[in-house]
Amino acid sequence: MADSLTVTDNRTGETYEVPIADGAIRADEFGKIRVDDDSPGLALYDPGFVNTASCRSAVTFIDGEKGILEYRGYPIEQLAEHSNFLEVAYLLIHGDLPTKEQYERWEHEITFHTFVHENVKGFMEGFRYDAHPMGILMASVGALSTFYPESRNIADGDNRHMQIVRMIAKMPTLGAWAYRNAQGKPYVYPDNDLSYTANFLAMLFKMSERKFEADERLVKALDVLFILHADHEQNCSTNAVRSVGSSQVDPYSAVAAGVAALYGPLHGGANESVLRMLRRIGSKENIPAFIEGVKNGDEKLMGFGHRVYKNYDPRAQIIKKACDDVFEVTGVNPLLEIAQELEKIALEDDYFVSRKLYPNVDFYSGLIYEALQFPPEMFTVLFAIGRTPGWLSQWLELVQDKEQKIARPKQIYTGARGLDYVPTSERWA
Ligand code: CMC
Repeated sequence: MADSLTVTDNRTGETYEVPIADGAIRADEFGKIRVDDDSPGLALYDPGFVNTASCRSAVTFIDGEKGILEYRGYPIEQLAEHSNFLEVAYLLIHGDLPTKEQYERWEHEITFHTFVHENVKGFMEGFRYDAHPMGILMASVGALSTFYPESRNIADGDNRHMQIVRMIAKMPTLGAWAYRNAQGKPYVYPDNDLSYTANFLAMLFKMSERKFEADERLVKALDVLFILHADHEQNCSTNAVRSVGSSQVDPYSAVAAGVAALYGPLHGGANESVLRMLRRIGSKENIPAFIEGVKNGDEKLMGFGHRVYKNYDPRAQIIKKACDDVFEVTGVNPLLEIAQELEKIALEDDYFVSRKLYPNVDFYSGLIYEALQFPPEMFTVLFAIGRTPGWLSQWLELVQDKEQKIARPKQIYTGARGLDYVPTSERWA
């Protein structure tokens, strides 16, 4: 069996041999197919990159049909159960699990870069009282590039490492301060005696107590949620990081683009929308009418469906379990009942079954976040903190990949051509 595709262009009768490698064909091979020397080569039209691979990557594997997710080859279920977020971050960035010494050095590096320049605090305080924390985070991450101008030297491996450490370390500080800003509360400095996730909770919730110590079960649950969000191959925000990073800009600017992409309701903003939806439904009796509305195309069932998973999202399974642990400490979120009933009805309904629409990571995560006392505006910030090592590992891969070029898709032009400019004196007469 030849690893190639034979294509006949019926416009010219020409036949072309297109090689197949790794289950893909190179789009530029199609560029060679043209009617004559003066006409453009054949382009591939793929809005939303539904069937276009933009890179080779060894970071994350997903089998959407089977519901499998692996970071660097390790199943998400095992990482969620046995690892912690900092170790997973190391795994994503470095490609393998750390030895004891490597882990200790990594933990030390991250812990001792959690502080940010005082001027960062100054400009964060300048945001309006009702500024969305994701907007603040996006601006602050981008602004870090001005504090570390050496980050533009992306060709230097040590320099890249330094910025990666800084970004993973400072993200919780920026996220927590964005929250404190909205609350009108004083910002809390990092406590380097605490673990990554416990320190984040302390920066969020500490008031006058000398030391803030969150319940270990809640720290563990949030740490697991960070792990589940740490990477997801070429999703919208990672594609944004890679696309912006392909211009060889510094990593803070590239990651700020990722934060911007994540802000949208179809991506990271979905869990916020799930909670609002559950609240609007209000009680189990209203579910059938709501489902009818979804089926009529009035709105989407938020937290359902995925571009890649055509099966139960494995992250949703783990989160569903984490709900029990969190609710044991905080008491059950009354919206859980509505969510469970909604899931049950949707999974039996032909509309959802035939389209392979299953709960995704966002369906239950909002319920946990709410139980942990986060307001909905903070949900996407939590996602961004978790996703940061993924963005950075993908960025690292991009800048070291000799095959990568500046991202620049083609278009199919549908507008007018060759018009003559009409002066305003004639048009406005
Ligand atoms: N509710 C109702 N119908 C849906 C939904 C939904 N949540 N999702 C998809 N569909 C329908 C869609 O209308 C279409 O129907 P038809 O074939 O009749 O036109 C069909 O299912 C295929 O959907 P699609 O829009 O072509 O799928 P997509 O791959 O472009 O979109 C998605 C994926 C996640 C944007 C979409 O499923 C969606 O909007 N879901 C709700 C938002 C959400 O939960 N987002 C979080 C995604 S997981 C977090 C992450 O990894 O970023």
